[in-house]
Parts: sequence; structure tokens; C-alpha cells
Amino acid sequence: MLAAVAVRQDPDDPLSGLELREVPGPVAPADWAVVRVVAAALNHHDLWTLRGVGHPADRLPMVLGCDAAGIDEDGNEVVIHPVIGDPAAGGGDETLDPGRALLSERHDGAFAELVCVPRRNLVPKPASLSFEEVACLPVAWLTAYRMLFTQARIRPGDRVLVQGAGGGVATAAIALARGAGATVYATSRSAAKRAAALELGAHVVVPPGARLPERVDAVVETVGEATWAHSLKSLRPGGTIVVAGATSGPDPAADLNRVFYLQQRVLGSTGGTRDEFVRLLRFLDSSGIRPRIDRVLPLARIHEGFRAMLDGELTGKVVVRPG
Ligand SMILES: NC(=O)c1ccc[n+]([C@@H]2O[C@H](COP(=O)([O-])OP(=O)(O)OC[C@H]3O[C@@H](n4cnc5c(N)ncnc54)[C@H](OP(=O)(O)O)[C@@H]3O)[C@@H](O)[C@H]2O)c1
Repeated sequence: MLAAVAVRQDPDDPLSGLELREVPGPVAPADWAVVRVVAAALNHHDLWTLRGVGHPADRLPMVLGCDAAGIDEDGNEVVIHPVIGDPAAGGGDETLDPGRALLSERHDGAFAELVCVPRRNLVPKPASLSFEEVACLPVAWLTAYRMLFTQARIRPGDRVLVQGAGGGVATAAIALARGAGATVYATSRSAAKRAAALELGAHVVVPPGARLPERVDAVVETVGEATWAHSLKSLRPGGTIVVAGATSGPDPAADLNRVFYLQQRVLGSTGGTRDEFVRLLRFLDSSGIRPRIDRVLPLARIHEGFRAMLDGELTGKVVVRPG
């Protein structure tokens, strides 16, 4: 079958290590299932793998792709929960299993005609969402869902700041927080992305570091060093910063005096559980909230999608279709 495979890692030229090639189809071990992929979505995670960040070279070659939806062996329309882990090993939460992995980290990913996953990772696709739409949700939207609702526990009427509005997790967080009845503030470096964030549902969007009209109850932080000081300053006493990424760097000044004096809560977050994923799908089904898709490409043109991502040209997800 045709697959997009990471064969080499290069921090400066990640796409040089991405090859389209024929690979053998997967054979499912006990309790695993083979899914015929209808749609799969690109993530920055795939580029990190190709750059050699967070993915040991000895795990190559590896089929990339963390996000997918398709049809299982029994003909059911499914979307794949992307965290492969054992809830029992994580005290009931597979994201806390020390051995957990995203699809494409330890097991071949979804940029292929077929993908093999544990049966428990199959989740029924809501009929109201297309294959392309559900394929955008597993990594970015599930991460945003857990940050807002499990970690920060936002409620209708809360005020939420989302840093780096152009990002995949950030755009999902803006739409979900607005849908949940929050007042949503966001920051972005680009005027075009600030306008897009307003369209997505943010009430006020400002350049990074600009003073907000009021302090917020929760901050969704994935940018890291470039926005951390602003996140701390924008938070009300007792408020919560949830951090799930550090795109601009992992070591900002901690400003501990502010953290303890204002009793701020700093929480890390990674991915989400199957149960959270089911609730995310229900939320989109009932609310009409949808991910924005920039383009849909055949798998054979996947390099074009990654090039657009590297060039910062995207407003929304890139989806590929193997069929
Ligand atoms: N923990 C998890 O489970 C999880 C899941 C998904 C992603 N992540 C991580 O979360 C981070 C975001 O990923 P993503 O795919 O959502 O986002 P992304 O598309 O990579 O975008 C990140 C955003 O950060 C902002 N940004 C980047 N550099 C900046 C700088 N120097 N100053 C100010 N803003 C800057 C940009 O916003 P503007 O251009 O709008 O300013 C950009 O759109 C990544 O580090 C990723 O690895 C973690």
C-alpha cells in the first residue's frame, strides 16, 4: 500500500526525509483492528518527527500521521482516538500511562491506505461530521478540549485568554471556549490571524503582550517563552494557566513571586482520554462547531501540504485522502 514514511531526520530540511513509498499492509495483533483510512490530517508533530525532535532515529522508518478517520473491518465509520496507552497503567487515565504514545511514535501512523490501532481507540464517527472534519480533531482539538474543560474547568461566563491564535490547538480552544459560553481573548502576531480569530469566535484579539481589558480566569498556553510573562500578568488571582506546548522555547522566567502571591495554578496537559474524545465529538455534533479545513489533497501530494505548513500559509488544517 502507498504510505508517507519518515525515513531520515533533518532539523533544517524536514521534508527531505519524507518519502512516499509502497509498504506492506498491517496485520492486526489480538485486540487491534485495521482501519481503511478515508481522511488523515497533518500536524506539526509530523514535522517534529522529521526534524528529529522527540522521536529517536532508531524508530525510523515510520509511517507518519497522528490523526485519521476511516472504515473498520466490520464496515463501521470510525475516528481514531490518537493516544495509545493503558488506562490501568495511568491510574484510570491513559494520558498518564508512562508508556503512552501518539500514533506514529511507536506504531505506524495514518498517512497510508490502512492503519492498525488497538480496538479501544476506535470511536464511532458522528454522522453530522464529514470524514475530513473528524480527521482534524484527534490531536489539536482533543488537546484543547482537555485543557479547557478537564484542566482549567472553565464554566459559562469565565474569561479565557488563548495565546498564539494562529496555532492548531489555539484555534480549537477559541472555538470550544466560545461555544462553552466563555468570554474569549486571544493574541496573535499577524493581523490576518487576528481577523481569523475574531471570525472563529474570539471577542477581542490583540498583538502578543498587549494589555487585556480585564484579567482572565484561565489561559491556554502553547507558545511558551514568547508569551509566558503576559500569560502570568493577564491571569486573575487564583486563576489557572494550562500549558500544552512551548513552540517559542521552554524556559521563560518563572516569576515565582507572582505565582505564589496571587495563588496562580500552573497545570501541564497532554492529549486527552478516549472518554474526553467521545465528549468532544458529542459537543461538535450538538453545537455545530466545526474545524476549519485549509485544503484537502490526495496522499500523493502530501509534500505540498507540509510545504504550506512550513511556509506558514495555512488557515486551517491540511487533510489528505489516501483513496
Ligand atoms: N501537549 C499536547 O498534547 C500537544 C498537542 C498538540 C500540540 N502541542 C504543542 O503545542 C504547540 C502548538 O502546536 P500547534 O500545532 O497548536 O501550533 P502551531 O500551529 O505550531 O502554532 C503555534 C502558534 O504559536 C505562536 N507562536 C509561535 N512562535 C511564536 C513567537 N515567537 N511569538 C509569539 N507567538 C508565537 C503562533 O501564533 P501566531 O502566529 O498567531 O502569533 C503560532 O501560530 C507545539 O509546540 C506543539 O508541539 C502539544
